[in-house]
Amino acid sequence: MRLPLPIAAVFAFASVNVKAAFVHPGLLHTAADFTRIAANVNAKKEPWLTGWNKLIANSHAQTTYAARPQTVVYRGSDGTHSENYGTLYNDAHAAYQLALRWKISGDTQYAVASGKILSAWASSLTGIGGSSDKFLASGIYGYQMANAAEILRGYAPWANANLTAFSGMMTRVFLPMNLDFFTRHNDAKIDHYWANWDLCNMASMMAIGVLTDNSTAFNYVVNYFKTGAGNGAIDKMVWKLYTEAGSSKSLGQGQEAGRDQGHATLDFALLGVIAQQAYNQGQDLFAYESNKILAGSEYMAKYNLGNDVPYTSYTNSDVTQSVISDASRGNIRPMGELLFAHYSSLKGLNASWTGQYRDLVVSQAGGAEGGGGDYGSNSGGYDQLGHGTLLFRLK
Ligand SMILES: *[C@@H]1O[C@H](CO)[C@@H](O)[C@H](O)[C@H]1NC(C)=O
Ligand SMILES: *[C@@H]1O[C@H](CO)[C@@H](O)[C@H](O)[C@H]1NC(C)=O
Ligand SMILES: *[C@@H]1O[C@H](CO)[C@@H](O)[C@H](O)[C@H]1NC(C)=O
Repeated sequence: MRLPLPIAAVFAFASVNVKAAFVHPGLLHTAADFTRIAANVNAKKEPWLTGWNKLIANSHAQTTYAARPQTVVYRGSDGTHSENYGTLYNDAHAAYQLALRWKISGDTQYAVASGKILSAWASSLTGIGGSSDKFLASGIYGYQMANAAEILRGYAPWANANLTAFSGMMTRVFLPMNLDFFTRHNDAKIDHYWANWDLCNMASMMAIGVLTDNSTAFNYVVNYFKTGAGNGAIDKMVWKLYTEAGSSKSLGQGQEAGRDQGHATLDFALLGVIAQQAYNQGQDLFAYESNKILAGSEYMAKYNLGNDVPYTSYTNSDVTQSVISDASRGNIRPMGELLFAHYSSLKGLNASWTGQYRDLVVSQAGGAEGGGGDYGSNSGGYDQLGHGTLLFRLK
């Protein structure tokens, strides 16, 4: 239990960009969000009911789910160890889905099951290895594990017994890798790693900052988003703006648009996580630089829906890409609900392409976004936590 800071101490640390006290739960979802979600489900309102039924049908959201904790997780081959990172992304999604199921239904058997998974990893995981891909694991699974725990900290028996141990593991294993990636970028040129590598580590370090009340970590990511050296910084990520022909809308070309659409879409799944986590702590990165994330999302969605978008040749130290890539065009990721809910439903902005992309994903999944396990067994289906219709839809 944390003692409240004396008021003088709170004000002493409060200034622009400096976070003194964190809201809990305050990563992807707040207490008010859970009140709204539970009310929609209890009233059997659509599309939330369909979203709920999708969640509770998921094999990861069952009390019988068996965790597979590892001592070291490997992603990418280091020539010696076999890759085992599927254990971590399956278990992270299970812990998150079970925590949601507890929080929305109030049935504690799901909290117990979620806590068992998180605690098993807290007492086993000592490191993440593999090829350079280990930095994808430190980012993607870092923010996902932290989000599961941020919900479950509201279940006192788990929080009292095991939140400290879990937070310690996140601080020892994930946080140093996140920070190392920003400072060293695996000893590559600063523009070598595509934006999603920075973005997933930003989502993770920010999430661990909130989970562990570490304002140094949280503020580092907010500043990196605005002024960082790597491709995850917003002006490098959405680096070219256009005015859409026939409307006054901004469209923003993403850093991975010329690479392939699987990664171009992933970038916006991750930006949504970063901006939502920050927003729930009082920092509006969605609005930063005249809604730059929205401009990028509209461009990404418009192209993936089959429309033409303007394109400017992209060059970094490794490649020149003179045309937009149509590889994996139409890539389906459960991520549009978060972005559309914020920009359109909450802020009243025109997010029509993002909305159409959301609707495509929702219709392909039978009326609501699914989550990990609903999009195949490969890692891409677990890059985002999903279930956004249930969790983010406002109207
Ligand atoms: C706390 O973690 C330990 C070790 O994994 C586990 O045995 C115990 O059941 C956990 N307690 C709760 C309340 O989750
Ligand atoms: C907080 O995060 C920073 C990284 O920004 C890290 O160096 C520091 O050790 C963390 N503090 C604690 C108490 O874990
Ligand atoms: C929103 O923007 C699209 C173009 O991107 C435009 O066709 C549509 O009319 C706009 N909607 C409103 C309500 O202004």
